[in-house]
Amino acid sequence: MKGMTNKNQKTIQIFDTTLRDGEQTPGVSLTTDDKIEIANQLSKLGVDIIEAGFPSSSEGERKVVKDIAKLGLTSKICALSRATKKDIDAALDCNVDLIHVFIPTSEVQMKYAVNLTPEQVMKSAVESIEYVKDHGVKCEFSPMDATRSEIGFLKKICMAAQNSGANSINIPDTVGIMIPKTTAKLIEDIKSVVTVPISIHCHDDFGMAVANSLAAVEAGASQIHVSVNGLGERAGNASLEEAVTALHVIYKYKTNINTRLLYSTSRMVSSLTGISVQVNKAIVGENAFSHESGIHTRGVTEKPLTFEPISPELVGRTRKLVAGKLAGTRGIKAELEEIGIHPNETQLSEIVKRVKELGDKGKTVTDADLIALTSAVMGEVIGEEKIVDLCDMAVVTGIKVIPTASVRLTLDGKEHIAAETGVGPVDAVLKAIQKLTSNLEKIRLSEYRLEAITGGSNAVAEVIIKVEDEKGNIFSARAAREDIVMASVEAMINGINKCLLKNRKGIKK
Ligand code: KIV
Ligand code: ZN
Repeated sequence: MKGMTNKNQKTIQIFDTTLRDGEQTPGVSLTTDDKIEIANQLSKLGVDIIEAGFPSSSEGERKVVKDIAKLGLTSKICALSRATKKDIDAALDCNVDLIHVFIPTSEVQMKYAVNLTPEQVMKSAVESIEYVKDHGVKCEFSPMDATRSEIGFLKKICMAAQNSGANSINIPDTVGIMIPKTTAKLIEDIKSVVTVPISIHCHDDFGMAVANSLAAVEAGASQIHVSVNGLGERAGNASLEEAVTALHVIYKYKTNINTRLLYSTSRMVSSLTGISVQVNKAIVGENAFSHESGIHTRGVTEKPLTFEPISPELVGRTRKLVAGKLAGTRGIKAELEEIGIHPNETQLSEIVKRVKELGDKGKTVTDADLIALTSAVMGEVIGEEKIVDLCDMAVVTGIKVIPTASVRLTLDGKEHIAAETGVGPVDAVLKAIQKLTSNLEKIRLSEYRLEAITGGSNAVAEVIIKVEDEKGNIFSARAAREDIVMASVEAMINGINKCLLKNRKGIKK
């Protein structure tokens, strides 16, 4: 990282396509409300341009783009359009700030995707850009599949786009076949024939979308197309959070992004799209700021720089020390101290021994396991700190009965009762618990897994859950019982207690 300083502190424009290319992620379909919620968040996050959708694709899409354009957000709103009058009219009807006109320029796509000759493509591009500009709206032009286009034709169409009034030219690596070296060379080539700002739109088919976007910036592109969590067609687009963090931390460039909102934005998009983020994904993955091995936990507690190239706070995260078979005494001690548990030397070495034993058996040691085994080693000390405790519960289910649960809990020692219905007894009982505990803090169930069911109908069921507080901190917990409903209740209460305990002590996860 040393030496990667940038004296000019260039500001890179962030063009977000979560609501357009991101929505093309197989399996993703967002409602109008979802899109408006995401648009609001993207604007808060500080993206310069939001590509809100493709108005000509359906009436519903046109309405959403219109609604987003009406929100009066700080971000500029863009609509995608093919190079046809009909498409552009649909985009113009949405009152957007910018229209993104695209047409294929590679031989294979001109012939097989749109069945046009290069001359027809050139004519449509020029006429479309002029049409947008005649309506007083800004225009970004994309020669689709630019990276597989014949370079002479590509340069010619970019020059023609500039002459027709395009405000910027975006270079799509539509099928993600570039590497940083070829990307940089292509951007230099295009920059040698046009003077308007150059943008890049990279797909991640070879896992190089972010690296290629950064290479384009190094070569002189002033804007990158990105999407939250890297959503998009096939393997997706360049991930906003990765590209932006690299621009800030490695390149020392500026963007208008408030990096502290990166994690909460990622969580929101993941929950609304239903596409979960892989645990080891950079910046926003659950493990991105977790440390397990003894040498790592010791290092980061002594000096974060040892194993943290990015400060977790910069991207809205907190550090997590994980107990596991590689964990060291120091890491486990620090993790327990975070939640206000202070074992003595003998107790600590016994806790470490048990954690390692569990790890050696191939078991993932969750925070709940650590608390449970610490509790066992230290007696009832931790139990006394329970904020939420179960007194009683009952569930009813059947063919003609709506599954219903009633729950009696103590919250800070006071008894409360609630009843809820659900799609099944587990859903009903977990809803009833959340209803009661929302009096203390809004904590929602973000993941539920049933595992390790072996044998007959009296087999032990293991429930693993994750709960999430309002700040996006996630706490995992588990419980194992022969009764699935009871295991679910125990796991949920464990998770809620962990979350409340940590938040009350004012200590970050
Ligand atoms: O990947 C691509 O080429 C696109 C265009 C519409 C710019 O998404
Ligand atoms: Zn794309």
